[in-house]
Amino acid sequence: MKTMIPVFNIKRQNKEIGEKLKKEIEKVVEGGLYILGPNVGEFEKGFARYLGVKYAVGVASGTDALSLALLACGVNPDDEVILPANSYPSSFAITAIGAIPKLVDIEKDTFNIRPSQISRVITKKAKAIMPVHLYGQPADMDKIMVIARKYNLKVVEDCAQAHGAMVKVMNKELRIENYGRGNEKSNQSALENWKKVGTIGDVGCFSFYPTKNLGAFGDGGMVVTNNPDIYEKLKLLRMYGEKGRYNSILVGRNSRLDELQAAILLVKLKYLDKWDERRREIARLYFSLFEEEAVKAKVVLPYGASNVWHVYHLFVIRIKKRSELKKYLEKYGIQTAIHYPVPIHLSPSMRFLGYMEGDFPESESAAEEVLSLPMFPELADEEVKKVAQAVIKFYEKS
Ligand SMILES: Cc1ncc(COP(=O)(O)O)c(C=O)c1O
Repeated sequence: MKTMIPVFNIKRQNKEIGEKLKKEIEKVVEGGLYILGPNVGEFEKGFARYLGVKYAVGVASGTDALSLALLACGVNPDDEVILPANSYPSSFAITAIGAIPKLVDIEKDTFNIRPSQISRVITKKAKAIMPVHLYGQPADMDKIMVIARKYNLKVVEDCAQAHGAMVKVMNKELRIENYGRGNEKSNQSALENWKKVGTIGDVGCFSFYPTKNLGAFGDGGMVVTNNPDIYEKLKLLRMYGEKGRYNSILVGRNSRLDELQAAILLVKLKYLDKWDERRREIARLYFSLFEEEAVKAKVVLPYGASNVWHVYHLFVIRIKKRSELKKYLEKYGIQTAIHYPVPIHLSPSMRFLGYMEGDFPESESAAEEVLSLPMFPELADEEVKKVAQAVIKFYEKS
């Protein structure tokens, strides 16, 4: 059957803002400057302001953002970087620079790294922790920062799925000054101690892959930091290590956000809060539709802690009989996805890390039970209801 309710659909967003985007794209084409021009600079400033951070550097992808951030933090080949065992895409940013992913299991409820297990994997080779704010839900940054400071590790936040997500920071040391606020909808006192993800660790990394909460028309990424040394290093690293044209002082690479993507992202940045708010509204609707006790017993809903502002990049339920449900929903024209079916240590490419099945039980059971339901800002309430009804019907029958 033809898919009627997609898990994600960019065309509806294009319909809403397509004309504005076309105008900006045309301007870039006519301007004739396609790499590191005014749009990239303006978007870097705008994004930094939105997050409340001093510096931002546009790069070619989220993976590159993470790799370059690690390099700028002094991570070398064979150094170890600690990350959650379920965040499949993040691991490739570590191996890309010859560093070693050191895995930690996840919390059952949030799917994020379990802080209480981090210190056991820290060796002399450990250089950084990479918390991943998976599905749009912030990781437990308070605890992670305490561990990082104790062992002198850098913290590189993977915010690829969490543009605009916030954490209520309890640790006094972390409540440092904010450099701006993008969140005009809430009053200042209510926002006290709330920080956007990406601004808590040493560096924050974002992806603008088209499906993300803030997505481009191709690949793109951003690294943000309050540290001027890291910032200067990042600017060198993204362009051959050049300090001035053809004066390469550091072994760098070519990884730049391009002008077209920056112009598109500048338009979309204005909508980010509205889109995140709509995602949260859709999540609330799903929650209310799955309210019944009998359903709740079979469908584990996303966990929303009170000290985080979840931006629901994905709406991930946890269920038994996943493949049957997936097929059943497909039959009714409802598309779903799995993020991710394989934990890092069980990927054939990562066998060299030497882990075995059973090493990270929570990540392994999540890989077998998670299912992403349709979630994007343009999804209609009626569609959400149809999805929920179909899921409920499946479990009533089985
Ligand atoms: C959590 C996470 N980290 C890293 C990445 C990599 O980003 P990109 O696809 O822009 O390289 C992604 C995107 O898939 C992601 O979801």
